[in-house]
Amino acid sequence: VTARLKLKPLRSALTQAGFLDARKEVREMMKAAHGDRDVLQCWMTRRLDGEPLPWLTGLTTFLGNTVRVDRGVYVPRFQTELVARRAIDRLPDGGLACDLATGSGALAVALGNARRAARVIATDIDGDACRCARKNGVEVYQGHLGSPVSVELHGCFDVVVAVVPYVPTDQLDFLPRDVRRYEPRVALDGGSRGLVFLEQAVWWAAVLLRQRGTLILELGGDQDRELLPILANAGFALADRLLDEDGDLRGIEASRL
Ligand SMILES: C[S@@+](CC[C@H](N)C(=O)[O-])C[C@H]1O[C@@H](n2cnc3c(N)ncnc32)[C@H](O)[C@@H]1O
Repeated sequence: VTARLKLKPLRSALTQAGFLDARKEVREMMKAAHGDRDVLQCWMTRRLDGEPLPWLTGLTTFLGNTVRVDRGVYVPRFQTELVARRAIDRLPDGGLACDLATGSGALAVALGNARRAARVIATDIDGDACRCARKNGVEVYQGHLGSPVSVELHGCFDVVVAVVPYVPTDQLDFLPRDVRRYEPRVALDGGSRGLVFLEQAVWWAAVLLRQRGTLILELGGDQDRELLPILANAGFALADRLLDEDGDLRGIEASRL
């Protein structure tokens, strides 16, 4: 009863501030704070200021996997689970996958846990992201997209999956305030039309994948159409467009010819 009385004002404060799932958020904070009131109070202040919940608790859930997310590292989105599921479907057990721009390593963790006998390699340009992914048990290398991957593995991958920054630079100002304020720009800014890293990921995938290997990219808007000529030039055929429950484009699957 005491705990309930204490939780109620916390829930109300979050609800009044517009947080949609205040009950769940308070529950997660309580659990991670081990009931320490001072920690909880500090986290509440930071949360009400818009800081991502996983940066406070240090944890999030991605496709049923518990993933550590350090402060300053991009928080994996549940929308990305669609892309992760498709990557898992295409990865044979005992196969080889590469997660370009892995962030916390959430996708690599999901792939590795779903395909225990597979090897999953990941990369990220950001040192903090690499450290975080490593804490999640991911084999990660720091550098630009596919460049840190050993040359001996070129042409050997069954699956390349990538959630690169793909927000067009001129759209960054329209992202939710808290995203703009807290999440690292290096994780979001996709340059002109959001295509800069998507294009480079396609070219790296052409280097890394075996014939008939699969490339899965997260993207949005009409970026699938814009990417078509690049895919064709790099030797890919578009295999599928990944739509969410609302019919919005969330990604593409392409096959290396
Ligand atoms: C949108 S986040 C996605 C992270 C992760 N895949 C996920 O879904 O949670 C994009 C990531 O790309 C990384 N990044 C940005 N530029 C990069 C580059 N040139 N090469 C590799 N990674 C890069 C960022 O550090 C960030 O972790």
